Amino acid sequence: MGQENLTVTMSTKTETLYVCSNCDTQSLRWTGQCLECNAWGTIAPEVASAHAGAGQPSRSGGKKRTIPSLALTEFSTIAAHTHERRRTMIGEVDRVLGGGIVQGSVMLIGGEPGIGKSTLALMIAAELAKHEKVLYISGEESAAQVKMRADRISLKTEKLFFASDTNVDSVIATIREHKPALAIIDSVQTLYSANLPADAGSLNQIRYATSEVVRLAKTSDIPVLLIGHVTKDGQVAGPKALEHFVDTVLSFEGDRTGALRILRAAKNRFGSTDETGIFLMEEKGLVELRNPSGYILEDRPTNVPGSAVSCILEGTRPIVVEIQALVQKTGFGYPTRRVTGFDQSRLEMLIAVLARRADIDLTDSDVFVNIVGGFKVKEPAIDLAVALALASAARNVPLPQQMTQWGEIGLGGEIRSVSAWSKRFQEASSLGLTEIITALPKKEKIPTLAGVKIHNVHRLKDAIALILNAHE
Ligand code: TYD
Ligand code: MG
Repeated sequence: MGQENLTVTMSTKTETLYVCSNCDTQSLRWTGQCLECNAWGTIAPEVASAHAGAGQPSRSGGKKRTIPSLALTEFSTIAAHTHERRRTMIGEVDRVLGGGIVQGSVMLIGGEPGIGKSTLALMIAAELAKHEKVLYISGEESAAQVKMRADRISLKTEKLFFASDTNVDSVIATIREHKPALAIIDSVQTLYSANLPADAGSLNQIRYATSEVVRLAKTSDIPVLLIGHVTKDGQVAGPKALEHFVDTVLSFEGDRTGALRILRAAKNRFGSTDETGIFLMEEKGLVELRNPSGYILEDRPTNVPGSAVSCILEGTRPIVVEIQALVQKTGFGYPTRRVTGFDQSRLEMLIAVLARRADIDLTDSDVFVNIVGGFKVKEPAIDLAVALALASAARNVPLPQQMTQWGEIGLGGEIRSVSAWSKRFQEASSLGLTEIITALPKKEKIPTLAGVKIHNVHRLKDAIALILNAHE
């Protein structure tokens, strides 16, 4: 069956498909404005892809064509490929990449404008350029601008070469000719090809450019680092749509007004997505932050109601974070609930649980919650600390300064145990926190930790009584 050649007959009556060059929406009718993305003048009849291979039926069809079947390889005879890696020598970057840059891989680093992507890319480039040729191609900045940044972070750039262009075909030809150890393209949104009728910056252009870059990397074994912008609300004209093309997707996050930056792997064909890299953006570039918990606790206010600390997991790394809550009687209208770094609906759930299960009623209060430092915490382990910060703010009683807590809170007001608790204990005690409230798994005994008092508490009400009583 599989050996026979397939014969495909195309209908002579072809329907024209209209495609938006901005968002790729297809329709059967031409309209002046795209009904999906509201862009004007972007709809055009679909043009057959420039890469339609021999195996694809052509739209101009009408004739009988024979499609040859594929050659098969016996699975056991396929040689496994070991990935050669090149260390960037920036510890936090290597950690996230899974040990270094893999030959011929395409990495995409996404993040909001101004977060520090170009700075990070330039630092990686400069490290590698100490020994090998690196190419930095920018469609966004001039050579002088990039040089200014390099000077600002005092980089020595002997084997680092610069080119400024946005034409993907020239960019690729340049990389092919110079065969660098790494090519950086800043940014993927600026690339365009004259082979496509779509506007520069449109999704079609970005996708085409990326697929060309991937082809270059795979055929030449040159690794490429692409930079992509992500807008504030996560609405991405680019990076999200490109994730499946590339080998590794990194996101560079943080609060632009603060200094903390987190590098995460959203996808990694050659490593885990559990590792994170943490940096500080300083006057002279990014510096690796080896002890993030210490950095966060440094500026914590003393004896202020509403401040609590918890221990979260960033990938596999435990990090102590500060949670701040402010509770204020609502002046008029609906009470406000504002939250930064934590899920809004989770906050509303905690407010309801506090009211129903722990006699802390915030129905007529405005509530503000902030995770300090720009962390975005999705882990329910932080629930207990958020709830206690709210209780502390509502009762105007500060939590003991050396206390920390973690645990997921259920609708019944119960505290549930969380994973990796022994790691969290270690991190908390190494920072000098001496009192911990958490719920251990049912059969687990309370571990002994020198100088640390562990309260094994299973109800939110009891945890609240504990903190309020601590001050009586
Ligand atoms: P940049 O790398 O240009 O961001 P992106 O490429 O993601 O848009 O850097 C953004 C900001 O970082 C810029 O506003 C200035 C600041 N910055 C520093 O604070 N210290 C530095 O050493 C550098 C190079 C930049
Ligand atoms: Mg930039």
